[in-house]
Amino acid sequence: MATIRKVGVVGAGLMGSGIAQTCAQSGYQTVVREINQQFLDKGLTRIHDAWNTMANKGKLTQQQLAENRDRLRGTLELEDFADCDLVIEVILENMEEKIRLFTALDHILKPDALLLSNTSSLSVTQMGAVTKRADKICGLHFFNPAPVMRLVEVVQTLSTSETTIDEAKKFALSLGKTPVLAKDTAGFIVNFLLIPYLIAAIRMLENGMASRDDIDIAMKLGCGYPMGPFTLLDYVGLDTTLWAAEAIYEEYKDPLYAPPPLLRRMVVSGMLGKKSGKGFYDYSNG
Ligand code: CAA
Repeated sequence: MATIRKVGVVGAGLMGSGIAQTCAQSGYQTVVREINQQFLDKGLTRIHDAWNTMANKGKLTQQQLAENRDRLRGTLELEDFADCDLVIEVILENMEEKIRLFTALDHILKPDALLLSNTSSLSVTQMGAVTKRADKICGLHFFNPAPVMRLVEVVQTLSTSETTIDEAKKFALSLGKTPVLAKDTAGFIVNFLLIPYLIAAIRMLENGMASRDDIDIAMKLGCGYPMGPFTLLDYVGLDTTLWAAEAIYEEYKDPLYAPPPLLRRMVVSGMLGKKSGKGFYDYSNG
């Protein structure tokens, strides 16, 4: 089994930066790539702010803080992944973009490097099929916020080797996560169960069955969930939720996963949740 020392993360958005932070603070040399300097700076700042907060809370010593910083590097070049042992793709949920990326990375990466996708809704099989290393490709699906949430779904395609699955699980454990194994079917485990719940909450609101606040309070206090469905929708992102719902609906044509009209219209209007300043709640005043 290859030893993983250096990790590449493609994408420094909310999930990409959280995953890069987790890898670097778990002891891996980590290089994170974005498509322009502005996005890269934003992602790196998010990570350094998180580490500063941890240090201020006494959860990191000054030495650990300095070591974490040393292990993390930003880049705009895919070629900087050439000596990585494992690369995690965390770009937009767009299959054309992913296929372009996987094709390029297949040429750049070492022959034995693992190529993993954090996709929550697209087919990992399709990404692997454009490469000559389909046996070294699997999903590694983190949850938001990646540094905090303890689950990682390891997603196996028909071509993923058992060795790759073992390495991915071992890697997840080394990040302090608990891996679960899922087949490459739309929604994997968590979203297959979570999306119908979130969609049902939106339908309740659309139909006037209860208010936003009462639905949130009910699920938080009635079920002991950390967040009600609307707070969670805003937190995850309405666009991400829509993509996941569409992908599962596309695969099974089960009306349980059909995106409600309100969700689609909010996404079209740019109301994406916390990240855009407005979703089911308004975050414009912080
Ligand atoms: N990065 C790093 N640390 C973070 C963080 C972040 N983004 N957000 C919170 N934390 C830390 C806080 O600093 C805090 O640390 P301390 O205990 O050391 O102080 C700790 O996490 C708890 O945070 P808070 O006290 O601020 O608030 P909380 O107790 O309410 O927890 C939460 C926040 C962890 C987000 C919690 O509300 C929660 O678990 N919510 C549900 C999240 C969830 O369900 N995520 C999965 C979504 S589905 C998904 O992601 C998959 C998909 O494909 C769509």
